[in-house]
Parts: sequence; structure tokens; C-alpha cells
Amino acid sequence: MKRIAVLLSNRGTGSNLAAILSAIEKGKIKNGKVVIVVSDKDDAYGLVRAKRKNIPTLVLSLREFARNGKSRQEYDEALGKILKEKYRVDLVVLAGWMLILSNNFIKYFSARTINLHPGLLPDGNSDYIKLSDGTKIRAIRGLHTNDAVQFAIDQGYPATGSTVHFITENVDDGPVIIRSEVKIHDNDTAESLYERMKKEEHKILPFAIDLFCNGKLKNI
Ligand code: GAR
Repeated sequence: MKRIAVLLSNRGTGSNLAAILSAIEKGKIKNGKVVIVVSDKDDAYGLVRAKRKNIPTLVLSLREFARNGKSRQEYDEALGKILKEKYRVDLVVLAGWMLILSNNFIKYFSARTINLHPGLLPDGNSDYIKLSDGTKIRAIRGLHTNDAVQFAIDQGYPATGSTVHFITENVDDGPVIIRSEVKIHDNDTAESLYERMKKEEHKILPFAIDLFCNGKLKNI
């Protein structure tokens, strides 16, 4: 059984955490168990969802760290150490986590941290990605949640989507596990488009987790 940590923030509603927990309940994720849900903010709704399911939660406030004179590197180190040593985590899932994790964290979970990103990312480090209709669009990197969705509309892209990938030290880069393309309609608002994207996210993230838990992903 792989021990999973889900990291999230207060920017979303924890719907992807809910999708993971439901996939585990339904046996769509085999050999995986969420052992801890972490947020850097205490008002993240994902924490409420976790508590309802009796899953341990942890708030590790970056602001509190800074108040105590500690650096961002020390925060990443502490987070990695706790997940590794206290919770004996095998897989870290970033499901709405907003902080960029440095090598101080990654060294604990190299090839064991996957991120859900609300944009289509290419294989390799290209700046562009080809859509299914052949159009080439610039990959959306460095933008979070609604901002990434609005950006795709503003650019006039025919489609956007979400990507699950392993993290590396480069932001929104790293080997892609799965992505899902979503068409943009003429009358779409960020809200209507994001709603369709989230439905896809709720499928691809549990799918990627199941692959990991069952040894079906190649080592990176
Ligand atoms: C997801 O849409 C995910 O793609 C995005 O946060 C959302 C969390 O939604 N992640 C990022 O923006 C990270 N760069 P949820 O709280 O409904 O699961």
C-alpha cells in the first residue's frame, strides 16, 4: 500500500482531493491510501473535507515560518522531512498547492511528487505544445488556477486543459504523466471553462495516482 500525502491551499475547494478519496473508495485507485493532507493556509476547504473523512491534517504556515526568522529553504526542508519521517509518505500529490518547491523538498521525494497544473504542458522543455487540431500554442507556465484559465481565453487559444506531471526544479516542467485537452467555446467565461477542466482533472489525477501506486510509471 502506497502512502499518499495531498498538498493543497485555500485557492481551490479541494475538489481534486475529493476526487482522489472517492476513487480510492471505489477501488479506482488500488494500493493507495491518503495518510495526510497538508495546507500552508489554515482556511483551506480541503482540510474540512479531509477531517470529514477522518484523514489527518497538517497546517504548515509559511507566514509563521517567516515570522520566526526562517527561510523559504528551511520551510521546504521541514515539509519534506515531516512527510518522509513522520508520515512515511511514498507519493506526494500537489492538488492545488501554490508554493514552488525547491530542491530542499524535492531531494526527499525525487520522482515521487506529482503536480496537477491547469494548463497543457509539452513533453520535454519546449515552450510550445501542439493541440489535437494541429494548432501550436505557447504552454501556460507559472500561472495558477483561474489565472491560467483566463490566460488561455485571453490568448484566443482554441483549447486548453490540465496536465499531471512529476515535478523538477523547473517550474511547471518535468515528465508528463497524462494531460487532458478541453475545447474553448466562443461564449466561455473562465468559470464555465474551468468547470469543464475540473471534470477532466477529477479523472486524470486519480488515474495518474493509480499508475504510480501500481508501479506502472517508468522511473524518471
Ligand atoms: C486545480 O484546478 C489545479 O489544476 C490547480 O489548483 C486547482 C485546485 O482545485 N493548481 C494550480 O493552479 C497549481 N499551479 P481544487 O481545490 O478544486 O482541487
